[in-house]
Amino acid sequence: MLKHIHFIAGLLATLAIATFFLSTVVVELFGSHEAVASVKALIVMPGLLILVPAIAATGGSGFFLSKSRQGRLVDIKKARMPFIALNGLLVLIPCAIFLNKWASEGAFDSMFYLVQGIELLAGAVNLTLMGLNIRDGLKISGRLRIQHTR
Ligand code: HEM
Repeated sequence: MLKHIHFIAGLLATLAIATFFLSTVVVELFGSHEAVASVKALIVMPGLLILVPAIAATGGSGFFLSKSRQGRLVDIKKARMPFIALNGLLVLIPCAIFLNKWASEGAFDSMFYLVQGIELLAGAVNLTLMGLNIRDGLKISGRLRIQHTR
């Protein structure tokens, strides 16, 4: 049960960040300011409402799972988690809230694009760390086997 919660919450959180990232890049490249403002609003609501509990559930269930599972991969996953959580809380969430505010006011100035750049960078860092946690999680659970040819 806990494993299922961890699996679903982990995938949901990763998919949420990937969706925010891709929709931002696409709308910034091809969309109008109104379209950018709509995407920025959707990322805050319902986006953050989905992402924040999903990350919390992933971290919480992961720490419970690690009580019965030990080893190098578990330790590495555990070590990545504070970076994922702090990056989310201190960078991604404030960026999303400010970008939504500025976009809704039509304030697409250099500050907007600076913060947008920071958000994309932090999003890419979290996607990488979460991707590595998925890979190592699947290795721990035995779903991902490395093929050795010799
Ligand atoms: C965003 C962060 C994380 C993501 C995306 C993630 C993702 C995953 C995935 C996809 C699995 C495979 C589950 C399965 O095959 O059913 C897994 C397994 C596992 N994860 Fe995570 N995980 C994260 C954080 C953590 C943390 C912080 C810990 C705590 C150390 C942790 C501990 C584990 C353990 C022990 C397993 C193996 C479960 C088992 O087979 O008994 N994970 N994780």
